[in-house]
Amino acid sequence: MSLQIETSRLFLAPFDPADINRFIDLANDRQIAKMVMSLPHPYTNKHAQNWLAKQKSDNDNANKRKDLYLFAIKDNDIGLIGMITLNRVNSGIFELGYWIGRDFWGKGFASEAAKAVLQWAESQLRVKAVSAGYFDDNPASARVLEKSGFLRTGVKTTKYSVGRKNTAKSIEMIWLGET
Ligand SMILES: CC(C)(COP(=O)(O)OP(=O)(O)OC[C@H]1O[C@@H](n2cnc3c(N)ncnc32)[C@H](O)[C@@H]1OP(=O)(O)O)[C@@H](O)C(=O)NCCC(=O)NCCS
Repeated sequence: MSLQIETSRLFLAPFDPADINRFIDLANDRQIAKMVMSLPHPYTNKHAQNWLAKQKSDNDNANKRKDLYLFAIKDNDIGLIGMITLNRVNSGIFELGYWIGRDFWGKGFASEAAKAVLQWAESQLRVKAVSAGYFDDNPASARVLEKSGFLRTGVKTTKYSVGRKNTAKSIEMIWLGET
């Protein structure tokens, strides 16, 4: 299975440790941390090293079922601009998560990456459904999910955000495939 995805502007692939300093610069942003669940803020070099070590140990453990597919989002001209992940929530269902560095918002990058990862998940992982939730103060992410083909489930829940150090209301959406 290839873990590389190309789109017209982007290249999605496993994280390259050589990008770690740029990753920290992009991720150390409260406006990103407060919209996702598990990104601490401030985001330090130590956080990044621990995160990298965890990826490495998961990847080295060939016997373990792969539950996290993580792609660095790179623009062909700019380099690393963000991250997108698929996290298994049960056998056929994954949860989508993503963020884009603030300087690159509003250019369609998140939607382009999300559509590509969903297509990849359908063809490579044979997923039955992909879930995603956005905090109710994040209309940009709602729009990304709508543009990527997610449907509203009507479910509203409360989730904890490490970056907020608090809970917030989350609106749950679902993607049921293209075919
Ligand atoms: C949400 C996020 C990923 C969007 O990335 P992006 O590359 O700017 O997204 P896109 O350009 O593909 O699409 C953004 C859409 O939201 C719209 N939008 C942006 N701000 C908005 C706002 N305040 N209200 C309504 N719509 C808004 C844009 O107009 C665009 O829609 P359009 O193409 O119909 O005009 C980015 O802002 C981000 O990383 N935020 C912090 C982390 C985060 O929210 N992650 C997702 C957690 S669920």
